Amino acid sequence: MAAHKFGGPDTPKKLRCLQEYLQAFSLALRHQNFACIYIDAFAGSGSRTEVRPALPLFGPEFAEPEEISTPGSARIALEIDPPLHSVVLIEQDTSRFAELKAMIDQFPTRSIIPRQGDANKLVQRLCARTNWRGANTVARGIRGVIFLDPYGMEVSWSTVEAIAKTEALDCWYFFPLSGLYRNAPHDPTRLDVFKEANLDRVLGTPNWRERWYDHDISRKDMFETEAQAVRRADIDAIEGYVKERLSSAFKGTVLDPIRLHHKNGAPLASLFFAVSNPSPAAVRLATDIASHILKRGKSSQVR
Ligand SMILES: C[S@@+](CC[C@H](N)C(=O)[O-])C[C@H]1O[C@@H](n2cnc3c(N)ncnc32)[C@H](O)[C@@H]1O
Repeated sequence: MAAHKFGGPDTPKKLRCLQEYLQAFSLALRHQNFACIYIDAFAGSGSRTEVRPALPLFGPEFAEPEEISTPGSARIALEIDPPLHSVVLIEQDTSRFAELKAMIDQFPTRSIIPRQGDANKLVQRLCARTNWRGANTVARGIRGVIFLDPYGMEVSWSTVEAIAKTEALDCWYFFPLSGLYRNAPHDPTRLDVFKEANLDRVLGTPNWRERWYDHDISRKDMFETEAQAVRRADIDAIEGYVKERLSSAFKGTVLDPIRLHHKNGAPLASLFFAVSNPSPAAVRLATDIASHILKRGKSSQVR
């Protein structure tokens, strides 16, 4: 099967944040009689293949790049100890889904629910149909963590809203900053209906137009020159706007993200953490753990 090569130099940092959170979450809730679940909405294949340049020991012509395979988010979640009660793995791609299923076979005693299909549809259905408050007698209810790790602009705002409405899920969202600034060029003449529709779908509102551009480009008239309507919002302002949007959906809290970068140093995405549960105890527990993890991630940022 084809190796799943994705991400960049900061990908290990993203996966480390997830691993540390799941580990602490599972330990913290182990005696609290909640059923703890993990939902990996963009699960990949279970592993990540990284290509590293080899040492040119016998000259550059013999330097074959090395392929190194490390655990992806799905395997990381399955290796958490104490184990989470249930793990839901969603993946759209047929060959990666087959690899996920082969990996699941290595955990025969675990409750793992693999689903092939579109994460937006499946997550929204799961959020709406699950009885989070606990119809079941063995637990006080369900608490969980969901990881949104798309390649780009795949997550629709309606999915974010569905997660927030559960009041039971903590959410790690690898938000595609580069998708945003690529779809919202400085020069608004380069905007097209597809880019605008993409931004509306991911952000859940049309008001980025007036917030990011000098003028309301939706009402641009014949007297306004193109040069007047440039995008003024820089990457910090765009990231701040995303935090504001997430805070409008999540009743618990949304923490300041860490920003991850492409190989060339350009901003790639921001890793956000949001709590849907409004209970002060749940917010305290989740944010204590996550802010510690994000702080450590930030202090290791060299940019
Ligand atoms: C960045 S990778 C995820 C990597 C994974 N979290 C890991 O750590 O190994 C994104 C994955 O999402 C899958 N994908 C893309 N669009 C999707 C969609 N609409 N629904 C479900 N999966 C999707 C891709 O096939 C790909 O495997």
